[in-house]
Parts: sequence; C-alpha cells; structure tokens
Amino acid sequence: EIKFGVLGQYFHCPVKGDFEYASNALVLVDDKGVIASVLTEKDADFQTQLSQLSANKQLIELSSSQYLMPGMVDLHVHAPQFPQAGKGLDLPLYDWLQDYTFPLEAKFEDLNFAKKIYPELVQSLLANGTTSAVYFATIHKHTSVELARECLKQGQRGFIGKVNMDEASQCPPFYIEPSTRDALIDTEDFIQQVLQLEGNEHQLVSPVVTPRFVPSCTSEMLQGLGELVQKYHCHVQTHCSESDWARDYSQEKYGKTDVEIYSDFGLMTSKTILAHSIFLTPNDHAVIKATGASIAHCPLSNMYFANAAMQTREILDNELKCGLGSDLAGAPIPSIFHTCLDAVNHSRVREDGTSTYLPADSRGESGSRISFLESYWMATVGGGQAIDARVGLFQPGFEFDALIVDTAVADSNIFILDEMDSAKDKLEKIITLNSRQNIRKVWVKGQLVIEK
Ligand code: GUN
Ligand code: FE
Repeated sequence: EIKFGVLGQYFHCPVKGDFEYASNALVLVDDKGVIASVLTEKDADFQTQLSQLSANKQLIELSSSQYLMPGMVDLHVHAPQFPQAGKGLDLPLYDWLQDYTFPLEAKFEDLNFAKKIYPELVQSLLANGTTSAVYFATIHKHTSVELARECLKQGQRGFIGKVNMDEASQCPPFYIEPSTRDALIDTEDFIQQVLQLEGNEHQLVSPVVTPRFVPSCTSEMLQGLGELVQKYHCHVQTHCSESDWARDYSQEKYGKTDVEIYSDFGLMTSKTILAHSIFLTPNDHAVIKATGASIAHCPLSNMYFANAAMQTREILDNELKCGLGSDLAGAPIPSIFHTCLDAVNHSRVREDGTSTYLPADSRGESGSRISFLESYWMATVGGGQAIDARVGLFQPGFEFDALIVDTAVADSNIFILDEMDSAKDKLEKIITLNSRQNIRKVWVKGQLVIEK
C-alpha cells in the first residue's frame, strides 16, 4: 500500500563517477518505507497516481529550488566524542587519544551524561542529512545500548558498537575493560539487547562488533570477538592502518598488517567496515576484495593523523567497497556533505600539493584525484553497500532514506543561476556548498524524521 509520493526533481548516482537527474519524477513510497515505483510523465499511470495521491493528501510537491536526494551514510562516527569536536586536532593521534578522548569516553559510564550527549548528536547528524550512521560508542554496555535506543527514538538507521579495549599497556587505568572475559560477555549481551530492543522489530538499529584498533586489544580479545562474529553474523568495525604509529605497533607485535591480523582472527567479513586503511599492501587489497569488507574513507581525519595520503583513487579503481566517514571528532564537522568536499580536497593535495617553485619530484602523484561525483557516490551508494542496506538510490525496492535540499533558503551558501547552471553544475554546487539550513526534510525508511 502506498503511503505517500514525492513529486519533483531528484539527483542520485547509479553509476560511480556519474549522476542521474530527473526533472519531474514521482517517487512512490509504501507503508514499509520502501520505494514502490519511480514514475515520470512518460509513464501511463503518472497522472492517475498523481490525482489519487493529491486527493488523499499524500502528495509532497517540491518547489523549483528543492531537490530530492538520497540520505547520506556516515560509516564512521565516534558518538561520545561529540563534545570533543574541534579540540586538540593539532596533536598526534596517540596524544589526542590519551589527553582528550579517553578521559571523555570514560565519562559515559554515567547514564545521565550519555543522555545529555547522545540525543544532541543523533539530532545533529539527522539535521545534516545523515540517515545512516555507523557508531563507535564506548566500552560501557548500558550506555552503548542507550545510544541504540536514541537512534530508534529519533528514527535514524544506526549501527552501534560497544567498544572493546583491554590491552593494559595501551589503555589508561580509568578506561579499560575490567577483564577480557567480562568484556566478551558484555559484548554478547550487548548484541542480544540491541537485536531485541523494543521498537526494533524491523532492525532499524544493529549491533556492531567493535575492537577499537589493534593496539587497544589483546589477542585473546580479538579471538573472542571473531568467535562472536561467526556466531551472530553481525557487522564489524575497527580502525585499520591509520597512522605510522598504529601500523608500526601491529608490525612489532604480530609482524603483520592490520588487515592480515583481523583476517587471522575471523574479523574480515562482507559486513566489516575498516576505518581509514591508509597503508594497504597488494595482499591487503586482495584480502579485502575476497572477503567483501568495506573501507570507510575519513579524509579530514586522515590529514590530521595519518602521516600519509589515502590511496582513494587506487581503492576505487580496484573496485573495493568504499564509503565515507566523518570520524567525528577526528574531524570536527558532523556532515557527510563536508566529508565529500574533504575527500576531493584530500585527493587533490596528494596529486599536486606542492608549489611550482619546488622540484618536479615533489609534485605528488599525477592521476590520483577523485571527482565530486565519485565522492558523492561514496557518500550514498558506496556507504549503502558497506552497511549492507538497500539505500542510496531512487529505485523500486530501495528503502526511502532521503532528504530535501532547498537552495533558496535564507542564509544559503548555494547560489544557483538557472540560465547558466547545468544539472551537473547544480549537483556539484549542492555537494560543495550545502549546509544544515538547506536541508528541509529528512526521511529514514519512509519516516519523516526532520522537518523544518
Ligand atoms: N584510533 C583509535 N581510536 C581512535 C579514535 O577514537 N579516533 C581516531 N580518529 N582514531 C582512533
Ligand atoms: Fe575513528
């Protein structure tokens, strides 16, 4: 049964690096929140459907400055770090974690503190058009479940991990699991609680097995988490080859790359999301491809912490699954539109980041740029593939996770000049200049979750 229809122009990217624009389409959404059909004026039943929806007051008509666009997918967000956004980003990763992040995350032991932060964060992401978010919470089971509850309450598609860290030499005494055994019991209980949350019958929120990164976990922990993954077939997320320091740590402890280590412990599956993945060897590429795991490219955070440039071009060309992550608070802005721009900038700095006055061999690697359309594809379709959900396109059978961008609101940074701007120009302007005030409505699974 049809619940409502949206009439107007839309953009989406069925093909990586390309886009599709429909000037006057009717997107029909059923009562399960799934797209039933997408009609244009050429279709025989366009007019009948239109009159019927209009008569039943089920029609949402967009104005000429409004665009229907797929919801954005953020593959990597640290929910407890929202209060840290914008602080200390000129520190190296190790110091940033020890001085800012771990003391803040430790506070999420307190349910009242979590209840002060999580609703604000989820609201902020939704208002910026993030319809699906893959979250790291903290090591605390009860407040990690609270984050899942909050996503359900606000209607966001959430993938939530209780973080695991038990390696005493790397974790401060005030922020470490009481024991490996207890942490594994808590993680299994967390998985079951999230799956059975009241209101989660349609699995809007899902549990994610979350070893923080190699340095924070003992091998017993990685082993135990791998066993839980095999038992529950749930999603996995972790940080992978993120900085010189993290990479060197893995080499010293295991003599292997992060991808090889995660693979050994049964943590590489088609539902694994590897944040960062800066230093990938040819063998890492092969393992990622064979397992169907995905990469969460976090461009701005990589600029701060990686000590190297992300090989986004090679990853896309090799057809590895790849979407975008904000890595809040490793990057401060809770918007995947911003992350799209950062991803393009990151690739361009790598390509020709130095001055013409410097020697030729300091000019970076030619051909390593990515396009705005590729970054937008990662933010929508690529992200959807990584979370194993049918989102990111306006096609029958896809979930209706969508937003309306209005380029003509007060205080808009976007300026469209209809007589000069092609459809592609308009889409590029929206990707690069869109901000929170342009986003007027947001739906997740056919539910209206933001309306301004
Ligand atoms: N590596 C391990 N933990 C973190 C974190 O919280 N943020 C970032 N950016 N990298 C990490
Ligand atoms: Fe991170």
